[in-house]
Amino acid sequence: MKITVFQVLNYSLILFAAVLFIRYIWDLIFNPDYQPAAWKEAKNKGKLAGILLRIEKNYRDKVRFFNFWFQVERLRKEQVPGAFAELGVYQGESARALHHMDPDRRFYLFDTFEGFKDQDLAFEKGEAASYTPGSFADTNINKVLSTIGGNRNILIQPGYFPQSALKLVQERFALVNIDADLYNPTKAGLEFFYPRLSPGGVILVHDYNYKWEGVLKAVDDFCKTIPEAMVIIPDREGTVMIIRSKF
Ligand SMILES: C[S@@+](CC[C@H](N)C(=O)[O-])C[C@H]1O[C@@H](n2cnc3c(N)ncnc32)[C@H](O)[C@@H]1O
Repeated sequence: MKITVFQVLNYSLILFAAVLFIRYIWDLIFNPDYQPAAWKEAKNKGKLAGILLRIEKNYRDKVRFFNFWFQVERLRKEQVPGAFAELGVYQGESARALHHMDPDRRFYLFDTFEGFKDQDLAFEKGEAASYTPGSFADTNINKVLSTIGGNRNILIQPGYFPQSALKLVQERFALVNIDADLYNPTKAGLEFFYPRLSPGGVILVHDYNYKWEGVLKAVDDFCKTIPEAMVIIPDREGTVMIIRSKF
């Protein structure tokens, strides 16, 4: 029996569709029930905006996402005053999640929006040593604003950090997400934000793992100088949290 190319293509397509269907049914039955009880309750009570539900669905690092959410909820419950800030925004993925968790907070977004700077890259070892000034440069302010889809509380602070923060020395912060990958900006971020953190406020530093030696060093050195202990969150890349003491 002779099989034509058309038949081969046909059978391949049917096989492909069958695999997709089985995968779909498998996920439906065996998909791990990863959502925390508090999130499910808030969802069932209609307290979560549709956009936040969609962001959660597509957010790859669920532990990171829910850690953000629990912190934002805690800050709201404890009425911790101050703005949100993110150092290291890139295309706005984590900023989008944080903004829609509390759209009423002023949210400062610090980034060069054109990638890393040579003066920061010069010291790096490990994974970051493979970075160039072109890494993470495929972004711009309009792209970030349209990704976030936020309100007037999104306050873009373009430029090299810490210089880009000089006009904000009087500001107070409730939540700061530092995700700048390198030693210099991580150190500068901790030094700038910690003294301006409200009691009960939180700093999160992403990428606290062996691949990012600069981040490890900046965090470890800084934590020796403050009374608070750091807590490591087991999200994909490791996040360190420092909650400013209330006393
Ligand atoms: C890993 S990306 C941030 C990813 C983002 N938080 C997310 O989860 O989608 C790191 C960003 O830090 C920024 N960055 C690093 N050093 C900086 C500095 N000294 N000043 C401003 N931005 C800096 C880079 O431009 C890059 O966009």
